[in-house]
Amino acid sequence: MSKPEKIVAIKGMNDILPQDAPLWELFENTTETILKSYGYQKIVTPIVEQTALFSRAIGAVTDIVEKEMYSFEDSMNGDQLTLRPEGTASVVRAVLEHNLVYDGPRRLWYKGPMFRHERPQRGRYRQFFQFGAEAIGFSGPDIDAEMIMMSRRLWDDLGLQNVRLELNSIGNAEERNRHRADLIAYLEKHEDILDAEAKRRLHSNPLRILDTKNPAMQEMVNAAPRLLDYLGEESLAHFNGVKALLDKNAVQYTVNPRLVRGLDYYNRTVFEWVTDELGAQGTICAGGRYDPLIETFGGKPTPAVGFAMGMERIIELMKGLGEPAEPNVCDVYMVHQGEEAQLQSFILAERIRDAGLDVVLHCATPTGAGSFKSQMKKADGSGAAFAVIIGQDEIANNAAQVKTMRGEVGEQQQAAVPFEEVVDYLVDQIVGSHDHGHDHDHVHYHP
Ligand code: HAM
Repeated sequence: MSKPEKIVAIKGMNDILPQDAPLWELFENTTETILKSYGYQKIVTPIVEQTALFSRAIGAVTDIVEKEMYSFEDSMNGDQLTLRPEGTASVVRAVLEHNLVYDGPRRLWYKGPMFRHERPQRGRYRQFFQFGAEAIGFSGPDIDAEMIMMSRRLWDDLGLQNVRLELNSIGNAEERNRHRADLIAYLEKHEDILDAEAKRRLHSNPLRILDTKNPAMQEMVNAAPRLLDYLGEESLAHFNGVKALLDKNAVQYTVNPRLVRGLDYYNRTVFEWVTDELGAQGTICAGGRYDPLIETFGGKPTPAVGFAMGMERIIELMKGLGEPAEPNVCDVYMVHQGEEAQLQSFILAERIRDAGLDVVLHCATPTGAGSFKSQMKKADGSGAAFAVIIGQDEIANNAAQVKTMRGEVGEQQQAAVPFEEVVDYLVDQIVGSHDHGHDHDHVHYHP
């Protein structure tokens, strides 16, 4: 038989391997704890939605909708579907569909994979994970500032330094329209400097031209009319309110008048947390206010604000800080030889787990169950604190050998412990010796 063709992962879509899992878990646990402490509730929406949801929410003339969406026709029924490129549109759909804000505002969070057909590079992938927060039904500058401070707390808790906050206000549609007219007139005067991308956007999305990375256009865009100068009284008051709260809470930021964001639903406050440690893809968290969005889906006017973090980028920053302190190892590795011993090991392993400890039971591989010696090597490599050993002699004596694998846990190196006492013995040794981090208590439910 010829060797079967190798199937590999899709370009720009990554596996998260076990060696990186502790960092991901640490990030997810820390984030969820903080979100909960600010009153956010979890929401999970499907990965696939109707294409129209995203094109309407994000905007037809945006990079995402124009060229990055994984859209397809469901061959079973002809539906036009898209793998979600972001989470806000889906959350808004769900909030409307389930009438979640009928009795007041909501703070919601989500996490999961998003899909954009971008050119893959460091920090930019075609499947990437976002952690997002959306506060729906809040209108004041207080929630904008609270969200920003919540993200700052996360950087603090994770030990991330060298992240800075960029802040801007893009006003409302009317203010942007007045600015837009002047901006187009200005850009037309400098048409000779505009690159092809800018020319294409001149009339469809001129604001995005201000975001250009093209060095030849920098001087020209620097001198372009600033949207900030077109803000009316209310927008200015809102922006000043956000800034005042940040100032009072010692949150440092720079106002970047050219920060406009790549999605069309925003108004007023927009912000990005940026680092220089990740090369070109340095934005680890981005968001802003999107007051008009819910109305575009037929809902009552409902102001809202949110952000999303790029998880891969944050994990990359965390990697620079070292290994997580809590190693991912089990408490007990069970070694056995012979049929009866295997049976006894199974029973004992379950009882030890009932007591809240982690147990890895040695299981057969294609080369067999393995000698005692090779099983002990596995036990050592597992990082377990104890090996529980059962062979013919132990079955005959009704007692297991319990071997200390890690010095600090107990002085005793090896002891014969009657089967019925093994659980208590291990719990005494492990839980008694130091503050044991596991929490295997049953989940409690209120009826
Ligand atoms: P976004 O700026 O498109 O906003 O994405 C938010 C974050 O997701 C980025 O700052 C970045 O960290 C990460 N990200 C985006 N694209 C990629 C990619 N191709 N590879 C890796 N990471 C990526 C939104 O998605 C909005 N929904 C945020 C929001 C929520 N605004 C209001 N509520």
